[in-house]
Amino acid sequence: MTHRILFVCLGNICRSPSAEGVLRAMAEARALPLEIDSAGTGDWHVGEAPYGPMQRAAKARGYDLSGLRARQVTPEDFHHFDLIVAMDGSNMANLEAIRPAGGKARLALFTDYAPQTGATEVPDPYFTRDFDGALDLVEIAAEGLLGQLSR
Ligand code: 4NP
Repeated sequence: MTHRILFVCLGNICRSPSAEGVLRAMAEARALPLEIDSAGTGDWHVGEAPYGPMQRAAKARGYDLSGLRARQVTPEDFHHFDLIVAMDGSNMANLEAIRPAGGKARLALFTDYAPQTGATEVPDPYFTRDFDGALDLVEIAAEGLLGQLSR
């Protein structure tokens, strides 16, 4: 069973920490024993808490992201995690480029779990400033992912 899941975006301060917080809350509510983490392909924000406006938008929906700290994804993550979930095609290409030989993790796009939305990526709210739109999509995709995991 897939039980170690890593979410990956560019900076690890907006989309992937939100996905981590949302999926963790949903998994806890259903008593599903998942290991959930997040990381960025870039290193600019390593060690930082999630972006303030993203934290506030998440907090308003009951997700506390304040304890999370950004880190950069590593080739070792492909050995540890069962599933690595990218927020957009650029994240996916960056992940493919560092995938080590023998890495077991499956790679997926988060929007693959939200086909009803027609979205093909989670737009980066650091640039769009649409933090609630990103959270809407993250919540739908997290539900879809959990639905697949519990099948
Ligand atoms: P994220 O958003 O990938 O959703 O965490 C970003 C945050 C910061 C930067 C890029 C993306 N940045 O270039 O600083």
